[in-house]
Amino acid sequence: MNAPASSLSTAETLRSALAGLLDGLPARQATQAVERLIATYRGATPTGAPILRDRADVAAYAAYRMPATFEAVRSALEAFADAVPGWAPGDHTDIGGGTGAAAWAVNATWGGERPVTVLDWAEPALALGRELAAANPALRGTRWHRSRIGSALTLESTDLVTVSYVLNELTAADRAALVDAAAAAARSVVIVEPGTPDGYARVIEARDRLVSAGFHIAAPCPHSAACPIVPGADWCHFSARVSRSSLHRQVKGGSLAYEDEKFGYVAATRDPVTPAPARVVRKPQIRKGQVLLDLCEKDPALGRTTVTKRHGDLYRAARDTDWGDPWPPLPGA
Ligand SMILES: C[S@@+](CC[C@H](N)C(=O)[O-])C[C@H]1O[C@@H](n2cnc3c(N)ncnc32)[C@H](O)[C@@H]1O
Repeated sequence: MNAPASSLSTAETLRSALAGLLDGLPARQATQAVERLIATYRGATPTGAPILRDRADVAAYAAYRMPATFEAVRSALEAFADAVPGWAPGDHTDIGGGTGAAAWAVNATWGGERPVTVLDWAEPALALGRELAAANPALRGTRWHRSRIGSALTLESTDLVTVSYVLNELTAADRAALVDAAAAAARSVVIVEPGTPDGYARVIEARDRLVSAGFHIAAPCPHSAACPIVPGADWCHFSARVSRSSLHRQVKGGSLAYEDEKFGYVAATRDPVTPAPARVVRKPQIRKGQVLLDLCEKDPALGRTTVTKRHGDLYRAARDTDWGDPWPPLPGA
């Protein structure tokens, strides 16, 4: 999935806002804050109280995780935007938005200013989100509200709700309450989860609820029928490339300039939608004179197609096609 030109500047603005975050914090202390955070997230979630408790927690989260969650949400939104050409959200609510990665990703995808509301129960995350957003003129008017996800959650009606990397922190009852509240309030809902088998199961659970509520699936699926993946046999996920900051290199070692964030997602809308005819669901295998593409197709079915040199332009397009892209490529892509 190729980033639109305008998104580069949003991504760069975010990167430079994040770079200043750990200034003045000794390298060892920054590393320890990230390690504590990673250990907490490996522990049992959901929790009864916020994991992000203070400024050091949220600074570590933002510096270490926000570039990756931003890129994952941006990839999901680009696929969604492809399925609703000409549409842009008039306003946006991000639930469990933390430091605001999805607000940045919406701005990277559709540009311009719109009313944005970020809801989270962790006050230090909202405070840091507001601080970071000051670097982006389109996000300066964002409303940062403390709100607990649960059966009492009420949302104002909005064009777009995003929920990114949040479902895994909720009980089954709160996950259901959140998706139902989003479906009642929004015309479009985009949910992003880690690209793991458990993340996939939560995405499918949410997808089923959205379809039952009358939504059409815009991406990644080419249809709104049941997912053809046999539960337990495989899981649908994608990959977004993330440049590594010096903090990443410090914590993880090695000298790679990037890493790949694996994520799963569903984008659904009540509006008319043109989903991709098929989507590439694994990294394409490029062999001599042929490209093997694993596709999720409209039927609905999973299948493999082999594109050879004899296919001419289509072969050249297949060589440029990436995991997560529509197939065949959209006109002009
Ligand atoms: C992994 S972070 C993701 C943050 C952000 N959406 C992103 O993609 O970077 C999970 C967020 O969900 C919030 N959260 C978890 N449980 C919540 C609840 N019950 N009510 C409100 N927010 C919650 C956390 O405070 C945290 O900011």
